[in-house]
Amino acid sequence: MTRPIGRLRGFIEHLEQQGDVRRIRTPVDPRFEVAAILAQLDREDSSAILFETVNGHQMPIVGNILGAQRRLASALCISEETLLSGHLPSQDQWIDPVLQNGDPDRRVIEAGKNFDLREYLPVLTHYAKDSAPFITCGVSSVRDPNNGGMRRGLHRLEVRGPAELGISLLNPPLSDIYQHHRRTGAPMEIAVAIGVDPAVVIATVLKVPGNMDKFSAAGGLTGQPVVLMPAATTELQVPAEAEIIIEGHIDPAEKEIDGVLGEVSGYYLSFASPTIHVRSISLHQTPFFQALLPQGLEVDHLLAFVHRLNVLPKLKMLFPTIRNLHFVPGTFGSHVVVSIDSARPGEIRRLLAMALSFQSIKKAVIVNEDVDVRDPLAVEWAMATRFQPDDDLIVIPGLCGQVLDPSAKPGFRTAKIGIDATRPRREGFEKISFPEHALTVAMNYQ
Ligand SMILES: Cc1cc2nc3c(=O)[nH]c(=O)nc-3n(C[C@H](O)[C@H](O)[C@H](O)COP(=O)(O)O)c2cc1C
Repeated sequence: MTRPIGRLRGFIEHLEQQGDVRRIRTPVDPRFEVAAILAQLDREDSSAILFETVNGHQMPIVGNILGAQRRLASALCISEETLLSGHLPSQDQWIDPVLQNGDPDRRVIEAGKNFDLREYLPVLTHYAKDSAPFITCGVSSVRDPNNGGMRRGLHRLEVRGPAELGISLLNPPLSDIYQHHRRTGAPMEIAVAIGVDPAVVIATVLKVPGNMDKFSAAGGLTGQPVVLMPAATTELQVPAEAEIIIEGHIDPAEKEIDGVLGEVSGYYLSFASPTIHVRSISLHQTPFFQALLPQGLEVDHLLAFVHRLNVLPKLKMLFPTIRNLHFVPGTFGSHVVVSIDSARPGEIRRLLAMALSFQSIKKAVIVNEDVDVRDPLAVEWAMATRFQPDDDLIVIPGLCGQVLDPSAKPGFRTAKIGIDATRPRREGFEKISFPEHALTVAMNYQ
């Protein structure tokens, strides 16, 4: 399984060859329409979507890039089976990025008097009550003040003005670095890359040691180093092949401002965040803008992939007979189904408690190996026929849960539930089946 690595446009070409890009030529508006179309086409069998004609802009918009497991696997040059296995052969092999000179043909626009980034970029306004347009697929880069290394994260950006962007800095490493700048008062330089190779986006949301550049993980995942270039107006190093780079700085003494965005939870979330003062943008000669719908399969797949890589190896170490683990789509990593081959008495309860100890997991269902964890009908069947709520349900109150769950109590505390939907150890659980020869005949009737 190979494909050219390094550029978003290379991945789009690869998908075109696979017949996995849908081109929309009818003019669309970046205000609500593009997001509504992406939501309408948010299905596993949908292609990546290229909006060729965007009202008020020259720049096309591409979306739903990782909205199907097959494209996520293709982005990492692995099979779907490997993707879902929770272990990647390359996950611990890091290849550091390489620094090259920037492309002299890139267009650099410095933020002067009449600059307005809204004229250049078709940033999407997603939901009816969002406070502004939001950039949702920007890879942010900053320097670690402790050792000068580059640190990255995927952070939502609110377009606040002609040269002002709000940035949601909730997660490390960028949130920690911002707090450091707040203590010292020194300005924090930041560069945002939009339209990078999807393997780079995936690596940006991986859990890696705090002192590491996530682009080294991207290199490890793809077997090729990420190529960096010096940023145009900051002392940072940014992906050389990015369609768009925005550079600027945060003044940590400035007051944080509230922004509202419809989130992956399906609710509006309001958060106070610092402002980036934009110094410049730089563009590929014929750039694409990349959209990432805040709620949908694309974010779900990303979150499930990252959580699975984190959770599954840890659980398997303690419970080697675990067969499979599935994060239920639409629950942003909250609901998980685990299948297990055999378990000693008491072991299912231990497994439930262990699964629920992960911060993101609010509900865990354990089934036997004969239940397909990805088939919601099969899981419901197991609950209907193998589960007795007075014996097989545990509720653990007051655990630390997801920031995104609006039902959580102060401090993001939540009760968590564990469901043992495995067969009880007694007679009466023989599953119905067909004789082999009848199954062979039935195979002809696809
Ligand atoms: C689709 C998506 C959007 C995200 N948006 C934000 C964001 O707006 N702000 C933020 O602080 N973290 C955001 N994150 C998480 C960060 O990128 C984070 O660095 C990453 O998930 C790994 O961090 P961890 O090691 O703390 O889990 C987002 C993650 C994903 C998958």
